[in-house]
Amino acid sequence: MKARITAIGGFVPEKRLTNHDLEQMVETSDEWIVQRTGIKERRIASESEFTSDLAVKAVENLVASFAVEIKDVDFLLVATTTPDMPMPSVASRIQARLGIPHAGAIDISAACAGFVYALNIANSLIVSGAHRKILVVGAETLSKVTDYQDRTSCILFADGAGAFLVERDDEVSSFIAQSQGADGEAGIHLYCSGLSEQIEGVQLDGKQKIVQNGREIFKKAVHTLTQEVPEILRKANLSLSQLDWFVPHSANLRIIEAATKRIDYPMERVLFSGTYYGNTSSATIPLAIWDAYHANRLEKDQTILLSGFGGGFVYSNVLIRWGLEKKKEGS
Ligand code: UT7
Repeated sequence: MKARITAIGGFVPEKRLTNHDLEQMVETSDEWIVQRTGIKERRIASESEFTSDLAVKAVENLVASFAVEIKDVDFLLVATTTPDMPMPSVASRIQARLGIPHAGAIDISAACAGFVYALNIANSLIVSGAHRKILVVGAETLSKVTDYQDRTSCILFADGAGAFLVERDDEVSSFIAQSQGADGEAGIHLYCSGLSEQIEGVQLDGKQKIVQNGREIFKKAVHTLTQEVPEILRKANLSLSQLDWFVPHSANLRIIEAATKRIDYPMERVLFSGTYYGNTSSATIPLAIWDAYHANRLEKDQTILLSGFGGGFVYSNVLIRWGLEKKKEGS
């Protein structure tokens, strides 16, 4: 039994938050933000728009773009750090709204690595024979937990959603190799405060908001990518020159530039969704692929590495063989 990616979709909210808008909110400049992060603007959900709304729209876009049936989906995995509420899960909320009966439904909590973790779990559930058609979604409304007085973090975070459909296939597999890990000790460097009153001895004020030590996360991310990329390629018996596209989590362009420089991989072969969508956590990777697909940049049978990393500190990688045909002219 093999698992194949058969459709993709994406969605970002209407409202744009530009660097110039942020200049009015905190002491910063467009020049500083572009130079330090590569981000020019980001999309922000309206007050009444939540993660499940974005997730539903991404799946609707998938259905409209690929004319696939989703009524027979038998599992939904939603990677998110910003669920509408602790329960019910976003997965079960969207199961109801998409009218998918009897499917399993769970949220995956692995911050910016969540979508890749979810893809790897979907592959395993299909290969084991347990399930045959799985919707994998990465969706966030980070704006709801962003502290817009903290200039070191509010310039990064944004809202968006991406979705993949993964189906059982007798012959073709999209999945070549996977790896994942965590370093819980580094959890203190990036967290979203919530029900707990303290983390590692740091007293919280009870409000839900993202707190980060940017420099530590930066170093950890570069180090992890530098270790993980050669490792998974070795596992798959592939060389760096055989990698057609590298899609790391779009946290910050400088993290990616530093890592690709160290492993000697060309930036022209990197897909980055941060320029116009900002850091949408679990949605950056599917959004980068969605954009590249619609720009007709992806060729069937290309080898693509997806590398998620983030708060935890957690990371997850998957090497895939792209199986979708290029878009037809005018579609
Ligand atoms: O999904 C994972 C999410 N988190 C991340 O990816 C975070 C990773 N880290 C980063 O993206 C970067 O560390 C930041 C973008 C957060 C900060 O960039 P940096 O180059 O590491 O800056 P820094 O923290 O070393 O600060 C340099 C200076 C400081 O001023 P002084 O102390 O040198 O006078 C900061 O106060 O830049 C200042 N600064 C700013 N200046 C203008 C910090 N934020 C801003 C800002 N605008 N928004």
